[in-house]
Amino acid sequence: LGEGVVGRAAAERRAVETVDILHDPAVTLSPDARALIEGAGSRAIAAVPILAGGNVLGVLALYHPVGFQIPREEAEFLQILAGHAAAALENARLFMESRRRQESAETLASITQTLTGSLDLQTLITQVADAIQRLLGCDGAAIGLVAADGVVRLSARTGTGAEAFREVIVRPGEGVTGWVLQHGEPFFTTDYEHDPRISPAFARGVRAAGIASILSVPVRLGDETVGVLHAFYEAVVPMAADDVARATDLARVVAVAVANARLFEEAHAHEAAATRAYQDLKAAQDQLVRAEKLRALGEMASGVAHDFNNVLAAILGRVQLILRRVEDPTLRQWLSIVERAALDGAKIVRQLQEFTHIRRDRPTQTVDMNAVVKDAVEMTRTRWRDDTQSRGVDVRLVVELAPGPPVDGHPAELGEALMNLILNAVDALPEGGTITTATRPASDGGVLVSVADTGVGMSDAVRGRIFEPFFSTKGLRATGLGLAMVYGIVSRHGGEVTVESTEGAGSTFTIHLPPGRLRSAEASWPPALPSEGTARVLVIDDEPHVREILAEILRVQKHEVVEAALGVEGLIRFREGSFDLVMTDLAMPGMSGWQVAQAIKAERPEVPVVLVTGWGVEVPPDQLRQNGVDRVMTKPFRFEDVRDVVASFRPKR
Ligand SMILES: Nc1ncnc2c1ncn2[C@@H]1O[C@H](COP(=O)(O)OP(=O)(O)OP(=O)(O)O)[C@@H](O)[C@H]1O
Ligand SMILES: [Mg+2]
Repeated sequence: LGEGVVGRAAAERRAVETVDILHDPAVTLSPDARALIEGAGSRAIAAVPILAGGNVLGVLALYHPVGFQIPREEAEFLQILAGHAAAALENARLFMESRRRQESAETLASITQTLTGSLDLQTLITQVADAIQRLLGCDGAAIGLVAADGVVRLSARTGTGAEAFREVIVRPGEGVTGWVLQHGEPFFTTDYEHDPRISPAFARGVRAAGIASILSVPVRLGDETVGVLHAFYEAVVPMAADDVARATDLARVVAVAVANARLFEEAHAHEAAATRAYQDLKAAQDQLVRAEKLRALGEMASGVAHDFNNVLAAILGRVQLILRRVEDPTLRQWLSIVERAALDGAKIVRQLQEFTHIRRDRPTQTVDMNAVVKDAVEMTRTRWRDDTQSRGVDVRLVVELAPGPPVDGHPAELGEALMNLILNAVDALPEGGTITTATRPASDGGVLVSVADTGVGMSDAVRGRIFEPFFSTKGLRATGLGLAMVYGIVSRHGGEVTVESTEGAGSTFTIHLPPGRLRSAEASWPPALPSEGTARVLVIDDEPHVREILAEILRVQKHEVVEAALGVEGLIRFREGSFDLVMTDLAMPGMSGWQVAQAIKAERPEVPVVLVTGWGVEVPPDQLRQNGVDRVMTKPFRFEDVRDVVASFRPKR
């Protein structure tokens, strides 16, 4: 502009003439232009600007040999021609513009329809990114929404820049997004590297993403800027006011759509929360009613069990006495039938007591529920496989074990509970199907164990009563004590058993056991005993009955036992023989169990020490280890407890 004759005509918006452009003092020329003209030879020039509404659209120029005087009429003709050209060009421009307006209005209308039709925020922002590209014809697009914490998350991007802006989080004032957020105004630049509004670090990022120009507009809701729309261009593009206007129009639509989607989401969340609260309340109420009913039943049953035990003891005792005196084979056979029946009755009473007898003693051991599940599956194998196969029915049992934390409990009881659930599942599959036993960690750090079947399921009425003792739908062959026992055992472990069932589609029983308290100490136990075989055990207890029964149980379990009545004696014995395991009482005259444990660990730290204590003694696991105790066994202990304690020092299968 301003250079040469054409440049001057455009700059000064008037006709300009020269007879020799190379020697006209009024004309400035760059060396390049001068060289070009010298080669061309046409040096007399007349130039007329094409003007429309005060804007220069172009220039018409006539070229003649040097020294040629342009005739007046030719100059006038040129003026008229420029006037016509201006009108034609202006018309064409207006036509193009109105067509583009119309197109973009149509695009915007269809985008508006899409956006306002979408109430899901995530879908919406993806659609917005597409819409920006469609409307502005840019190479890439992004939308960022202000989150609750005030930062912007660039939520959806497409095309150029999509990768670079993937996980971008922007604070007000940072980068283009931050600028727009802070000022609430559109932002455009083709030179972000030198744009004082943008930091150099941001500029580097943008360039690396292959972006040359950016147009950003705020998404405003009332006075608040709730987000930013970005259009990215790979080339340096001139930005017309028109583009900014269109982007702003789109931002207005987006603002409304986002507000709607957010309101909808909020309403939805409220509704879901209310429904959940109601369901929780109802479940809690049902649970309460059921627990109360089962407690009452338990009290009744425990009275029955007590009386029955006396009755059965009398029958059994007499029958066994009579059996010693009677020789007649027929009578003896009848009597042994009575004896058998009394023993069966005693078994039922024992099962009933499993339900009623909610013992107060603490679960004593760390139990790996996966091992319990595996054992229960093995022990019921004849029932779910062999028996069903012989009936020509196909029952599949799937075991899905997830590694989980140990729980505190009695493995034998928990195994019993699981076996009951598996047997019920088999019963529920008269025509075959699948039983799935699974373990998975619970959210409270405990364990969930489930037994699911694809069987007959149950009605709501049945489901409400299944844990009651003697409730059964299986007729005379069943006692209806299975689930009552499960309930008792799980309750005693501080856990919960729940059931989901659909008639005709199957049932899922889930046992939730709380996290084990002995966990941290026990989790790190190295196996100290060989995987099988006899162990040499030193038993130290000042109470002869307890010591003898513990020794006896260990011997029955094929271990070698040495007994000691006092701590000091125990230590002497310990030095005499090589022991695999030491079991010591806690409270003894002279040396306490703690002191014994420490003395033993001082000599042979690899020998495990079990502290045998009275009920309810609770010692934090870390304190146990510090004092040289590897685990605790609570009195009174049962045969299985002793077995499991020993087994816990063997490597896990
Ligand atoms: N997996 C299951 N699918 C469908 N119904 C079940 C399932 N488990 C239990 N039930 C229902 O619950 C009732 C009670 O079960 P529970 O185990 O207490 O007793 P039972 O199986 O009938 O008898 P028992 O276990 O003493 O032999 C069953 O009779 C049955 O109606
Ligand atoms: Mg059963």
